[in-house]
Amino acid sequence: MLVSGNCRMDSLLRSHPNNDARAYFEATIARRRQEPGDDIISAFVRAEEENQALTAAEVLSLSILLLLGGTETTTNLLGSTMVTFLQQPEELAKVRDDRSLIPQLIEESLRYHSPVQALFRQTTQAVEIAGTIIPAHATVMPLPASANRDARKFPDPERFDLTRNADGHVALGHGVHFCLGAPLARLEAKIALEALLQHLPPLRATEQPMTWIDSFFVRGPKTLPLAIASVS
Ligand code: HEM
Repeated sequence: MLVSGNCRMDSLLRSHPNNDARAYFEATIARRRQEPGDDIISAFVRAEEENQALTAAEVLSLSILLLLGGTETTTNLLGSTMVTFLQQPEELAKVRDDRSLIPQLIEESLRYHSPVQALFRQTTQAVEIAGTIIPAHATVMPLPASANRDARKFPDPERFDLTRNADGHVALGHGVHFCLGAPLARLEAKIALEALLQHLPPLRATEQPMTWIDSFFVRGPKTLPLAIASVS
């Protein structure tokens, strides 16, 4: 492994300057130390206290990572997919007509929108990439969002096309630190999109413009005003 993944927490915390999550988890972990249950935080605490497999700092980091990494990302993927539906109604029509396209829609949306735009990583040894040597212990900033729009891999990359082959996108990372929650994220997105297409009436954008989250690290709508379109 040339690049270590333990900087993800830093990048998540940097993109969330507010310390409420930390305070919430510190209190929850303290409660689980007193009254363990069959939940995942109690399992982390057991790994620390009984096996010394984790440090107290890692118990805190892992708990926050699972919450932030597991909720905001999927929420943003769904929000961004909605933006595409509004901007390209023909893509929405295709998937409304043929729900079997939902998995492809999710992969193209992951590629096109890249909910995690950038990461921080640290090299564990010197590595040469495209003729440039990056020394050991350097901080690097891989950009999945850029790789996912590389024309050498995805022809006409700025076009959202749910029928394209989006295999090989890196929206969920690559290698040993590949997103732990990838199957869950894909399942959640599939269930949500199926429900949306089945139950919701046609939606349209309002005159109020949508806004994107102001962040280098995450992409998703901050506000997305929608109105129910009248059906004739
Ligand atoms: C659309 C949704 C999601 C996106 C775009 C996403 C993206 C990512 C990315 C880019 C990484 C870094 C991978 C790498 O360094 O190679 C990552 C790691 C991780 N993700 Fe996700 N993620 C999503 C959903 C989730 C969910 C639902 C969970 C758990 C509930 C989760 C938990 C994690 C964890 C624990 C890691 C760290 C893995 C490690 O360092 O070994 N993610 N994710």
